[in-house]
Amino acid sequence: MVDSEKFADQTEPNIIRLTHGEKYLTSKWYTGSGEIAHKKDGRSFEVTANFTLTSEVKVVEGIFKPENEILANIYNSLGRCVAVIDQTVNELYGEQVRKYFDAHEIPLEMMAFRAWEVDKTPETVHRILGYLGKDGCDVSRSEPVLIIGGGVLSDVAGLACALQHRRTPYVMVGTTVVAAIDAGPSPRTCTNGKQFKNSIGAYHPPVLTLVDRSFFGTLATGHIRNGIAEIIKMAITDDAVLFELLEKYGSRLIETHFATLGENQELAEIADDIIYRALFSYMKHEGTNMFETYQDRPHGYGHTWSPRFEPAVKMMHGHAVTTGMAFGATLAVEMNWLKSEDRDRIIALCQSLGLTVYHPILEDMDLMIEGQKNMRRKRGEGGLWAPVPRGGIGACDYIQEVPPELLETAVAAHKAVCSKLPNQGAGIEMYLSDLGLE
Ligand SMILES: NC(=O)c1ccc[n+]([C@@H]2O[C@H](COP(=O)([O-])OP(=O)(O)OC[C@H]3O[C@@H](n4cnc5c(N)ncnc54)[C@H](O)[C@@H]3O)[C@@H](O)[C@H]2O)c1
Repeated sequence: MVDSEKFADQTEPNIIRLTHGEKYLTSKWYTGSGEIAHKKDGRSFEVTANFTLTSEVKVVEGIFKPENEILANIYNSLGRCVAVIDQTVNELYGEQVRKYFDAHEIPLEMMAFRAWEVDKTPETVHRILGYLGKDGCDVSRSEPVLIIGGGVLSDVAGLACALQHRRTPYVMVGTTVVAAIDAGPSPRTCTNGKQFKNSIGAYHPPVLTLVDRSFFGTLATGHIRNGIAEIIKMAITDDAVLFELLEKYGSRLIETHFATLGENQELAEIADDIIYRALFSYMKHEGTNMFETYQDRPHGYGHTWSPRFEPAVKMMHGHAVTTGMAFGATLAVEMNWLKSEDRDRIIALCQSLGLTVYHPILEDMDLMIEGQKNMRRKRGEGGLWAPVPRGGIGACDYIQEVPPELLETAVAAHKAVCSKLPNQGAGIEMYLSDLGLE
């Protein structure tokens, strides 16, 4: 207790501030400090603690090329690398990963897991925990696990890391667009619960996220399109320049899988720019509000009703999000928050990229209201906090209440707008089954 006395506050003698000495620190990424205050009754006290974590995000090229030292520098000193890889990614890139660690003479212990949406279950988390735990690799609590895969794997393996030793760090290499720019760096690790997607989880961001678009070359085009939805989300709510870039280059990014098919240096630079802008915009809000305790979260746009209807109709996540975003834009028009021209621009961008802007499931009022109820509970009961664009593209605000009558009027208005579109607003390969993910 000598240390604590050193920090006793002279002006408030009942408070003891405790900063733990550097020499005791065993983690590079997590630190904490706090204070403890006696109450006057001499029988109670209050602890206030701060928790600091560091999470770095890097856009890189050729992460598993032997000359790239980033991962070798991390795992060399640890004497091994424990990795969890998506089964499909293992088939495509496993050899390259193994060769990389061989070239750097770092022993690699890598296990592949099937990580489809249907595998996003507590059972998968348990299986990964089995691999990381005592009977598996027995990872230490300061040894970052390497996770290589898409959003499903980053969610479930990230959650397993959060649970292992209560907090084991991990390095994320996202191999899909969604994982690269959204699920990968996100602090929200999770698994699906009954009826409601992503409802069980922990806030546990990677200590390092490496974003390398060269993986996108082997993705099905449907997954590229699906991932772009999360970029559009940040463009609409936070970055008007990004929106314009997507209007200009979005289709070419899909055709060329972010400039990984064919040689086009100029497009490659634009692709990296778009990825960087999306990541920066997202982490600016997400990374500074790691526990989601503040509800000014633009990245929740499109995610208010979709967690309820996405599993109900087995839609691709990105398509469910664009449906939610397009509906949110019409709702914003109904509330006089947005001009109809801006809403039409949002719909036009999504449609030009083959993304869904309307699904008849929106007309199921019971389900939509239940979705709102679930979301209020998830966001803290203070209100619905539904982000929608306000005042133009690149800015947003939060709706606290959507009464059933307004919900119904907005759905009818949205249906009317979308009924004039080709396919009534349906997108290309909008269902999980279209991409063989069921
Ligand atoms: N935690 C968050 O903040 C957050 C944010 C957005 C999305 N998500 C979650 O992410 C999930 C969707 O992630 P996703 O779109 O990456 O899907 P996914 O993880 O299911 O990956 C899609 C498919 O592509 C395969 N794949 C992965 N990389 C590949 C590659 N480079 N080449 C070829 N195939 C490859 C996978 O095996 C899988 O079959 C959803 O469950 C969603 O809820 C989470």
